[in-house]
Amino acid sequence: MYPFGVDYYPEHWPEERWPIDAQLMAEAGFNIVRLAEFAWSRLEPQEGRFDFAWLDRAIEVLAAHSIRVILGTPTASPPPWLMQAHPDLYRVDDQGRRLTFGNRREYCPNHPLYHDYTRAIVTAMVEHYAEHAGVVGWQIDNEFGDRCYCPVCRSAFQSWLQNRYATLDTLNSAWGTIFWSHVYTDWSQIPVPAATGGSPNPGLALDYDRFASDSYVAYQQLQIDILRRRTARQFVTHNLMGFKYDKINYYDLARSLDLVSWDNYPRTQWSFTAGIDPSGPALAAATMYGLKGQPFWVMEQQAGPGGWELVSVMPRPGELRLWAYQQIAHGAGGLVFFRWRTARYGTEQYWHGLLEHDARPGRRYAEVARLGAELRQAGEQIQETRVETQVAMLLSYDSRFAFQIQPNNPGYSYAEHFQAVYRAFHERNVAVAVVDATADLSGYRLVLAPPLYVLSPAVATNLESYVRAGGTLVCFFRSGVKDEANAVVNRPLPGLLAELCGVDVTSYDSLPAGVENSLEWGVPELAHAAPGIGRAWADILTPGSAEVIARYTQDYYAGQPAITRNRYGSGSAVYIGTIGDSATHATLADWLIAQTGVPVALTAPAGVEVTARNHGTRRLLFVLNHTELPQEVKLGRAYHNLIGEPTPLEGTLTLAPRDVLILEKAE
Ligand code: GLA
Ligand code: ZN
Repeated sequence: MYPFGVDYYPEHWPEERWPIDAQLMAEAGFNIVRLAEFAWSRLEPQEGRFDFAWLDRAIEVLAAHSIRVILGTPTASPPPWLMQAHPDLYRVDDQGRRLTFGNRREYCPNHPLYHDYTRAIVTAMVEHYAEHAGVVGWQIDNEFGDRCYCPVCRSAFQSWLQNRYATLDTLNSAWGTIFWSHVYTDWSQIPVPAATGGSPNPGLALDYDRFASDSYVAYQQLQIDILRRRTARQFVTHNLMGFKYDKINYYDLARSLDLVSWDNYPRTQWSFTAGIDPSGPALAAATMYGLKGQPFWVMEQQAGPGGWELVSVMPRPGELRLWAYQQIAHGAGGLVFFRWRTARYGTEQYWHGLLEHDARPGRRYAEVARLGAELRQAGEQIQETRVETQVAMLLSYDSRFAFQIQPNNPGYSYAEHFQAVYRAFHERNVAVAVVDATADLSGYRLVLAPPLYVLSPAVATNLESYVRAGGTLVCFFRSGVKDEANAVVNRPLPGLLAELCGVDVTSYDSLPAGVENSLEWGVPELAHAAPGIGRAWADILTPGSAEVIARYTQDYYAGQPAITRNRYGSGSAVYIGTIGDSATHATLADWLIAQTGVPVALTAPAGVEVTARNHGTRRLLFVLNHTELPQEVKLGRAYHNLIGEPTPLEGTLTLAPRDVLILEKAE
């Protein structure tokens, strides 16, 4: 059975309503429900007094319809009695301001007292539910994030540094504290990089970001340990935030979870656009899959307009089903919609559920129920399959954090650049894995490494062995600039990658908005391609052993190389010294696909995404029409549609707007 369900807050509604909700959920095909995620004040109404009776009854009502339950530990929203008694539990933000009550995620993740209260509620819950047949798993907290800069964190940071550097001499020299007389003579002098201290030492700032990330990893581990000691049968997950979230090293956070899940909202009040770039949720899914190299769940899949103060665009007919299938196409092993019924109260009054405020099941419910019926038909076949890829993109949280501290160019965003490179491959239906820069790369024909701005010797060696063994690596400007302490390296750029790339960055130019430099291609395969465009950054390259792929045509560095390729061992390393526009990314993607022979799932018109999931010789092709128009797709051979009529499909098929097919070769 494919896990398919919804997030439900029975505590928001009268108990008489619960059986009706459960009945409607079962009719939609739901077999799983997440409960209790923010229910601390109902589960522990007073310190030490626990009340599980209402939750027992809710679980029972669902069990009567064979719906099983994931329980959230409620620690993302501490109750007023707790915060009132201990105001120093509130987080301090990067402006040095202490938060107050009224939202959620207001707690400091390092506070020992918060840890005590966490232990109490989580222990009580798991002792009550460890043996409960209806409870299959746990979600810890909700969407970890947000750095804290309070005094407790400051002293925890000082201990963290002591652990990392052992001596102050080592720390002072790694950070270069001689600059502006910051030489520390006692650990207790070391500050937190809050805005009150101005623009911080980059070494200190990067370590703080790592420390802040580790703080949530440790806080999560505290909860995992409590759960694991008492239950082996129930899985443990946390709901992450896809690719975009950038304050936690998700590789670290995912390591000791049984499975990764994430929250997918293509349309919200914060992304208030008519059109949606399908490569956004696709990259998020690839990132989530890559954290453990395993299918992930979507723990919150958009069910309606998302909004707090604003009401976002209503998902158009077909979109809820399409967005859900897109996640499945990229490896989701379970799918849970957020939320069941639109809340009448609270900050999220306009974050719509499947049912309207007045409980009516309308168009969105019907669309999701259709999906439920289809998954009953095809879910098991889908579940056996995995995503296989021959292209990888390396995600470096160290570099991402370091670019947050120093973007280098005002127009530069690591995340947007990463997305743009990914998009070019996504638009060509080439599957891309997103993996950690230390991952084993031997299985990939092509590896794209968005700026490895902070580069460790271990990662440099990993890349070197990959290329030597025959791989094709693509590096970008601002790679190898910093060591792990965020100090600039004392060697020509791209630092530890200079020999591998066979190139020397002799100079660079940081370009103002609106200034572009056009690129002339230097290899025969690109002789007919339109000239490229470079923006924001221009490395001026002196090739050593590398050949020139493109040159600048303007400004004082006209004629100088912008892109190079170096044959190294049995492979090659491409170096891209600037940021292309979308057409330039497309030219480079076509060129790299042709050079490396990586597979394209199926060639389809723009806006039609095709991905594959495989199991042995079995291959399922997901064909998703993201456009508002019918699209024609050439099949090449006969297929069955796992979620359609039994008659095989052949030749050219017409895919309705926002429709989805799951194709398997007909015998
Ligand atoms: C996040 C949270 C949910 C809900 C939605 C909508 O994904 O996990 O609890 O708040 O956002 O804002
Ligand atoms: Zn703190």
